[in-house]
Parts: sequence; C-alpha cells; structure tokens
Amino acid sequence: MTLKNKRIVLGVCGGIAAYKSILLLRLLKKEGAHVRVIMTKNAGYFVGPTTFEALSEKPVCMDLFEKTDDAAISHIKWADEADAVVVAPATANMIAKMANGLADDALSTFLLAVTTPVLVCPAMNTNMLLHPATQRNLETLRSDGFEVLETDFGKMACGTTGPGRLPDAEYILDRLKACLFSKDYEGKTVLVSAGPTREFIDPVRFISNPSSGKMGYAIARAAEQRGACVILVTGPTALEAPYHVEALPVDSARDMAKAVFENMDRADVIIKTAAVGDYRAKTQADQKIKKQNEELVLELVQNQDILKELGARKTRQFLVGFAAETRDLAANAGEKLKKKNLDIIVGNLVGSPDSGFQADTNKVTLFFKDGSSEALPLLGKDEVAHILLDRILEKNGN
Ligand SMILES: Cc1cc2nc3c(=O)[nH]c(=O)nc-3n(C[C@H](O)[C@H](O)[C@H](O)COP(=O)(O)O)c2cc1C
Repeated sequence: MTLKNKRIVLGVCGGIAAYKSILLLRLLKKEGAHVRVIMTKNAGYFVGPTTFEALSEKPVCMDLFEKTDDAAISHIKWADEADAVVVAPATANMIAKMANGLADDALSTFLLAVTTPVLVCPAMNTNMLLHPATQRNLETLRSDGFEVLETDFGKMACGTTGPGRLPDAEYILDRLKACLFSKDYEGKTVLVSAGPTREFIDPVRFISNPSSGKMGYAIARAAEQRGACVILVTGPTALEAPYHVEALPVDSARDMAKAVFENMDRADVIIKTAAVGDYRAKTQADQKIKKQNEELVLELVQNQDILKELGARKTRQFLVGFAAETRDLAANAGEKLKKKNLDIIVGNLVGSPDSGFQADTNKVTLFFKDGSSEALPLLGKDEVAHILLDRILEKNGN
C-alpha cells in the first residue's frame, strides 16, 4: 500500500460534488494514510466538518484564524508536513485563486505554501468549466506544475450533460498515488503478461491454473504510475485493468503468444508473469463431451514456450520471467534464466497461502543474469512490483 503512513491533505471546496470527497477520505484512510482536511467555508454548505473530523480522526481546518492547539500557523505546518495534497472537488473559484496566487482563506493560503505534489480535481457545471477564464486558469495550474485531473463526461446535478463531473474516488486515489512516484519510466514501453491461460477441451470445459493475475496487474499499475506506456496481455482474471494501460485480453496460450509476439517490438521491457499452460488438448471437441465411460483419456500436446521464444527473439528488450516452483527454487530459477536468455527471473515458492497464486502478498527472490540474487521479505504485490521496476532500471544501466 503506497499511501501507508503518508501524510495527505485533502482540500474540499464548495461544489455539489463535495459529498464524494467523503468517499475519497474513507479510501485514503483504508490505505493507511494520515489525512488532514482543509475545507472552504462554502464547502461547509454542502458537507459539514463533523463528518470529515470523524472520518479523518483529526480536527478539520476551515478558518485561517481559528484558535486550536496549533492554529495560527497550521497552514504552514501542514504544508511543510504533507507528502501530497488532493483538492477534490476544486471549484472554479478555487482554481482561479490558485492560478493567481490568491491566499484569502485557509485552503488557498495553504495551497500557496505547499511544495509537495498537488492533485487538483476540478468539478463544475459544463459552461463554467469551458469558460475561457477557467480553461486559462487550468492551463496556468498545469504549467505551474500542478497535476490537474480531467473531469468526467456525464449528466450533472444541474441537469446539463457534458464534461465537468468529478471522477470516481477510486480513480482520484490512483492518480494521487501516481503523483508520489518519480516518472522514471517515462518514454519506456513495458509489456506485461498476466493471469492464467485456458485450454478448452470442449465448448464448456478447459484446463487452467489458479493464477489470479494480481502480480502482473500490480506490475502494470506500478509501471503506469511511474510514467511507462503499458501493454497488458492478460488471461481471464476477476480484476479490473489498471487505469491507462492498454489491456489485451486473451484466453489460450496460443492467443497469448500471438498477442505478445505482435507487440514485443514496441516494448523496451517485457515482464512475463502469466501462468501459461504448458499443454493443451490435442483436439478440441466441437460439442460438449458427454459422460460415457468410467475413464476418459485426454491427449495433450505441448504449447509453445513463450518466454523461451522471447529470449531467442529479443533485441533491445530487457526480459523478465517469473518462476513458480514447488521446490529447489534457486536451482530451477537459475536454470530457466540461462536457458531462456532472461535478464532477471523472479522466483517464488508456491504453496503457502500468503505467497504466489491468489495472495495479495508475495515472497520472492530475484535472480540476476550476473549470478547474483536478492531475496525479498514477504511484501504486498504492489511493493514487489516497485522493487522489481527499480532493479530493472538499475540493471538496465539507467
Ligand atoms: C448548489 C450549488 C452548487 C454549486 N456547485 C458548484 C460546483 O460543482 N463547482 C463549482 O465550481 N462551483 C459550484 N458552486 C458555486 C460555488 O459554491 C461558489 O463559486 C463558491 O464561491 C465557491 O467557494 P469556494 O471555492 O471557496 O469553496 C455551486 C453553488 C451552489 C449554490
């Protein structure tokens, strides 16, 4: 969880979408962030400070001059301490103040003092948004280094349909996390394969494995958050694709191979986390196989080894494979690394409930081409993803 113990300031302005910032606050708290809320007086017409106080477990700042324990200079103190700031919703009024450096209330004064990343989430009536003054102000914010979210298109509370809606809290949270990362993957394309494959025996049955896709999706999300252009070739999973990645859904190992080989030339880094079926049924029945004899013998044939083929075809690509083993991890992973011409192989011993398939955590060892290795402790898959991306840059000479 990348927001764990991070100090986040949530700025809330007087817009109809102010109620959505309550949901955002709940998500931030769920991530383990320490959240302080600064709201404008006008925001108080829409949502009361008591709700934010109860959910953030901290006093809410509404008035620059209010007398609390650290009151008089709390805007400076909070600005100094914040790891990141999110203004949601940001009204046309607040955007105009920020663009012009005005500091006439607690939130605008705080925003002038803060030096950490600020995510501005505009929300307003379509005409207000499209007004040249607002557009000019948003442009100024962008060129001043603020991260400004695009609004959603849809039906507004005022009855009009168009741009201006506040995006979902989940999306705002994801973009806030992205603000915290340096964009060290900007300009790079990362191809990730994830999830299981399905080898159909007949129209209603298939051979597969318990891969959830969580590790690959975590890598795709982390790479996108660090500025990469991400292609995610994914077998069937129950997961939502991370925001802004190009998701290419596939079923069988042959589909996966086709999608991977078609896109490999675009990639600078290829990370194969997918649990690809080694075998498929020699023939796939057109109709459902009926129950007949006590025993049914299935003839299987080998699928192409995608990783090995990538190793043979790769030119400039940095190639990372995953090895799920039930024993002799170091020996098996090391052998695969050499045989398949990989740059890194990530080995994990499957079989324990907190690591490998399905789990949200993973305990892996990274084996490098130069023969060295790095055993990581049990970590969230998001954390493993970021460490792996760090090592790829280091080993790739960046
Ligand atoms: C019912 C109602 C809904 C409003 N919704 C919005 C809105 O969604 N976005 C916006 O920019 N202004 C909205 N306004 C106007 C702002 O509340 C107004 O510009 C106010 O000065 C903003 O103050 P603040 O930026 O200090 O919070 C709304 C006003 C009312 C009365």
